[in-house]
Amino acid sequence: MATTASRTSSAAAFVPEGADLAALRRAAAGCQGCDLYKPATQTVFGAGPEDAGLVLVGEQPGDVEDRQGEPFVGPAGRLLDKALHEADLAREGVYLTNAVKHFKFVPAERGKRRIHKTPSRGEVVACLPWLRAELAQVRPGLVVCLGATAAKAVLGNAFKVSERRGQVERFEDYDVIATVHPSSVLRAPDRDEAYRSFLADLRVVRAHLG
Ligand code: URA
Repeated sequence: MATTASRTSSAAAFVPEGADLAALRRAAAGCQGCDLYKPATQTVFGAGPEDAGLVLVGEQPGDVEDRQGEPFVGPAGRLLDKALHEADLAREGVYLTNAVKHFKFVPAERGKRRIHKTPSRGEVVACLPWLRAELAQVRPGLVVCLGATAAKAVLGNAFKVSERRGQVERFEDYDVIATVHPSSVLRAPDRDEAYRSFLADLRVVRAHLG
C-alpha cells in the first residue's frame, strides 16, 4: 500500500488511533484531509461487519452513495450485489468500502447532473489512512480491489489490473485479489462477456475463502 502523503493533503490527523469502526466512522464524517469534502454531501465510510472475512474496496462513492451516505447502493452496487450472490458470497458478510471516501465530481454543463471524476493519486494517498484503519480493525483474510484506483491504492501505483486480475497477491498481512470495477462492466461494449469475467474473478475469491 502506498505510504506517502503530501504534507498539505492527508487524512492522517483525523484518524483516531486504535479506534473501532464506529468511532472511525464518526471521525471520518469530519475529515478535511483533502479538498474533496467541500463539494461532497458527506463522507461515505465503509459498511459491514467488524469481523468480516472479506473486504471489498471500490474507488469512491458515486452520486447515489454521496446522497445516501452508504457505499455501493447505486447502479454499480446493484450489479455487484447480483455478482456476489451468483458467486455465493453474501453481501451481509462482506465489509464494503472505498479507497476515497468522498464523491469527486464535476457539474454537468447543463442540468443538475454531477459527473464522476476519477480521484487523483494525491487524493487517493491522502485518504489511505482511513482504509488502513478499517483494515486494521476488520483484519480480513482477503481484500478484493474493485478497479484500478483501489488496486493501485493497495498494491502500488504500478499495479495493472488488466495483467493481474483474478490472481492472489500478497500485501503486508493480507491476501489481495484485484478485479475490474462493476461500473466498467456496466459500460463495457459486450456487457455479458464483461460480467462473465467479473463473476469468474469473484468465484476465485469464493474458492480462496474456502
Ligand atoms: N463506485 C465505487 O467505487 N464505490 C461506490 O461506493 C459506488 C460506486
